[in-house]
Amino acid sequence: MIITPYLNPRLTRPLKWLAAILLVYFLYFSTFPLSQKPSKPRKPAKQVKNYTCPFENPENPSFADYFSKNPPKSLEFHKNNGTDQKILVILDSMFSRHGKAIIQMLNSQKFAFKAEAVSKNLPVLTTSRKGRYSLIIIENYYKYLNMARWNRQLLDKYCKEYRVPMFSFIASKPNDQLKRIKIKGSSLWMWQNQRIQRLTVSPSPIHKISKIGSFRNLSSEESDWILFETSENFESILTGTVKSGYERAVVVRDLGREDGVERVIFGRNLTDFQVKMTFLDSLWWAMGTEKTFGLERFVQIDIDDIFVGAAGTRIVEEDVNRLISSQSHFQKSVENFKFLLGFSGSYFRNGDDLEDRGDEFLVENSEKFVWFPHMWRHNHAHEHNFTYLEAIMIQNKIFAQNMHLPVDYPYAIAPQHDGVFPVHEQMFEAWKKVWNVSVTATEEYPHFKPSTGRKGFIHSGIHVLPRQTCGLYTHTQLFDEYPDGFDKIIHSIQGGDLFFTILLNPISIFMTHQQNYSHDRLALYTFENLFRFLKCWTNIQLKWQSPIESANLYFQKFPEERIPLWTNPCTDPRHQAILPPSINCTQKKLPDLLILGPQKTGSTALGSFLSLHPDVSQNSPVPGSFEEVQFFGGKNYLKGVEWYMSNFPNESTVIYEKSATYFDNPSAPKQAASLIPHAKLVVILQNPAQRAYSWFQVRCISGGRYVHHLDKWLEHFSLQQIQFIDSDELKEQPVKVLTTLTKWLDLPDYPYESHIRFSKSKGYFCRFIDEKTKCLGESKGRKYPEMDEELRMKLDKIFSLDNSSLYKFLKKNRLRIPKWLEDVVRVRA
Ligand SMILES: *[C@@H]1O[C@H](CO)[C@@H](O)[C@H](O)[C@H]1NC(C)=O
Ligand SMILES: *[C@@H]1O[C@H](CO)[C@@H](O)[C@H](O)[C@H]1NC(C)=O
Ligand SMILES: *[C@@H]1O[C@H](CO)[C@@H](O)[C@H](O)[C@H]1NC(C)=O
Ligand SMILES: *[C@@H]1O[C@H](CO)[C@@H](O)[C@H](O)[C@H]1NC(C)=O
Ligand SMILES: *[C@@H]1O[C@H](CO)[C@@H](O)[C@H](O)[C@H]1NC(C)=O
Ligand SMILES: *[C@@H]1O[C@H](CO)[C@@H](O)[C@H](O)[C@H]1NC(C)=O
Ligand SMILES: *[C@@H]1O[C@H](CO)[C@@H](O)[C@H](O)[C@H]1NC(C)=O
Ligand SMILES: *[C@@H]1O[C@H](CO)[C@@H](O)[C@H](O)[C@H]1NC(C)=O
Ligand SMILES: *[C@@H]1O[C@H](CO)[C@@H](O)[C@H](O)[C@H]1NC(C)=O
Ligand SMILES: *[C@@H]1O[C@H](CO)[C@@H](O)[C@H](O)[C@H]1NC(C)=O
Repeated sequence: MIITPYLNPRLTRPLKWLAAILLVYFLYFSTFPLSQKPSKPRKPAKQVKNYTCPFENPENPSFADYFSKNPPKSLEFHKNNGTDQKILVILDSMFSRHGKAIIQMLNSQKFAFKAEAVSKNLPVLTTSRKGRYSLIIIENYYKYLNMARWNRQLLDKYCKEYRVPMFSFIASKPNDQLKRIKIKGSSLWMWQNQRIQRLTVSPSPIHKISKIGSFRNLSSEESDWILFETSENFESILTGTVKSGYERAVVVRDLGREDGVERVIFGRNLTDFQVKMTFLDSLWWAMGTEKTFGLERFVQIDIDDIFVGAAGTRIVEEDVNRLISSQSHFQKSVENFKFLLGFSGSYFRNGDDLEDRGDEFLVENSEKFVWFPHMWRHNHAHEHNFTYLEAIMIQNKIFAQNMHLPVDYPYAIAPQHDGVFPVHEQMFEAWKKVWNVSVTATEEYPHFKPSTGRKGFIHSGIHVLPRQTCGLYTHTQLFDEYPDGFDKIIHSIQGGDLFFTILLNPISIFMTHQQNYSHDRLALYTFENLFRFLKCWTNIQLKWQSPIESANLYFQKFPEERIPLWTNPCTDPRHQAILPPSINCTQKKLPDLLILGPQKTGSTALGSFLSLHPDVSQNSPVPGSFEEVQFFGGKNYLKGVEWYMSNFPNESTVIYEKSATYFDNPSAPKQAASLIPHAKLVVILQNPAQRAYSWFQVRCISGGRYVHHLDKWLEHFSLQQIQFIDSDELKEQPVKVLTTLTKWLDLPDYPYESHIRFSKSKGYFCRFIDEKTKCLGESKGRKYPEMDEELRMKLDKIFSLDNSSLYKFLKKNRLRIPKWLEDVVRVRA
């Protein structure tokens, strides 16, 4: 203290006391900002009736009888032979609501499928060697029955030969009379517009997750069920009991004894949860994916930002006690269950007196839970740079150390998923540096919606798992104030979204918040009842494991998700809102045009001529890869979108990128379409034998198989997006080629003729700038010695099939045939 020397020594003693008191006050206030934080009286948590299983009910003694009379058959998987693991879906229309539900289910199970609206033409079912599909789903069974006879026979024949089952749905026609109808071409009878009183899961080998014998009484007055009469050729999979006590099938399996085609026919759509479960079981049975989806389901419940929340909404000591007792109670239904608490230290003791005690009590009991770091405050990671992120993470880490929080796993979550996807590279780096994070989760990849489409990916050594929303994200802690009524959440639990989230995902990571465990403790009710419902209706075994084990399991099950599929972060409003500052969406940084190659076709020359145009720019040269970006399908792809963007200028009408590695790369088309779906593409067509030869070794012939590779691009881009250039023409008349290309790109004309000159010494065209001829380097445009006859014949043989398919392809699409190909065909004719 500067003033101390001027004071009377007798006075310094009390002053020291004063200073000490002030210091105590200062410390007190800075640690506990509001000393007076009286708590409002709290009501005890409201008790809401728990779910009880209708058939474990002691009033239902017949259930045990049922099993003794109908022992469940052993589980067997359908074995189709010689087909790709792909599903053909024939929809009523591409916009059908029910069709959408079917597609969502297939997506969630990650099945490959092709969906088409029903039309006069049947899709091609076979390749030269095998069947394309291992299951056929026809949304509307009537449409199948009314197909042209020829088509139906073809479909049936395919199903029979490859042992491929067919699924279909029949909907009641609302105005039709209640009646019995014989289904065309089979001995199956069905009843239209029925009302059922009970729906029971019948003993069928198809059921795996659905419990055989499980049933529910239906109170509804709905009279639009279709019921089937079974006989020895048909098996009931799901049984409806009508008022008179008769049992008929709601879902029937045609065993294929009559015409050799196995069918599963649904008399109800997927809005009924028992039907939906049956559909799911049927899918697994048909696709034989026992390995991918067993009966185990892992559940993780994160309580994010455990200390964040306004006074009056937070947990108190009693809530913490309930959290602890619920955790041990949940362990009975979920093996090893633990809550994961994500902490933001800055908000510790930030409530009223009771709530502060709650925080302390939680920390006193910290070893009972698994802890993981959030940020120090509820920081939005995307707004900050590495230095700042590192600082706040360290602050949070010091808090954890002081409070002795056991942070046992290298797992972390970012507030609002900022920085995880779209990737904020600096956050990934800070996480790794401070916490050695190797696993996180997000709802945002590839997009928030549809939730069934969420996936995982690995980037920069961090495993990102998909995360689910449990529907608790509202603004109440009270049952009675739940928006749209608490029935909404009950519905979600009892056969709705929450229930299916667990069924459809091998690992479910739920996000909840501290407040969800305070007052009425809505989260505890939700999960208690979700687990009860699952136990009642399914054979699922619920388990908990660490996020690290979950990440290993996830990417073992879905190895194809390890490499992310980057999307344009500027086209999803949710993503735009959480972009790192290094990505500015008002600046154009993605190419409009890709010159795909293939290699050694003159693509470098094409690029260099195109760059003459003042409205065209290309990427800055990338060292180590012939100046090419080589992003799609290559190692650089793993560097991420920000890296890719960093290669391009922000001012230009057309930005192009030329990487000759793209054309024949099997991953490039999908990756390019995901990031730049509207890009235009240029493919150079060159005599493949010539090309192979100029690529020094005959081994590198893959790029010459034009149609084979084009097919892959055309799965993701339309033909209108592709421009074909004849390599000979490019060599001989570059000005003409460039003028055409410029038009196609909607660019103003450019006098290429004044800037492209033939170099006599080089023997090819070069750029002519500032009165100087600028030619490409030594390796370009090289002349090769004449090919010897033997080699030529060998190459001709290799390419003859590809030649003719390219010719057919160009002809069919009314595209210009390059001269070398015309020649070939003329010679052969
Ligand atoms: C619901 O079940 C939980 C867990 O067994 C129990 O603690 C709670 O008291 C039950 N609620 C009611 C209203 O019975
Ligand atoms: C279901 O209905 C049957 C009669 O059809 C009745 O005996 C049984 O008690 C009902 N079960 C439940 C859980 O309501
Ligand atoms: C399917 O299996 C049967 C019997 O093993 C065989 O005869 C048939 O050729 C197979 N079909 C195909 C398409 O592989
Ligand atoms: C499913 O069927 C029910 C009853 O027939 C109907 O009310 C509902 O609109 C259908 N839902 C879809 C998505 O088709
Ligand atoms: C990082 O951000 C902080 C404040 O947010 C700023 O002071 C610092 O200069 C930034 N560092 C770098 C390297 O940009
Ligand atoms: C960081 O995590 C990796 C595994 O992801 C582990 O091999 C390494 O030892 C850890 N490093 C530290 C310093 O804990
Ligand atoms: C759950 O937590 C969120 C976020 O803190 C909060 O807004 C919401 O009110 C809580 N919902 C319930 C049902 O407790
Ligand atoms: C993005 O770029 C535009 C145009 O260059 C600029 O005006 C704007 O300030 C930038 N936005 C940010 C957040 O840097
Ligand atoms: C382009 O980027 C540069 C450097 O980042 C910046 O200074 C300039 O404002 C940007 N121009 C536009 C139009 O965004
Ligand atoms: C196929 O194309 C190569 C290269 O143009 C040509 O040399 C060859 O004659 C063609 N072969 C056939 C059988 O068309």
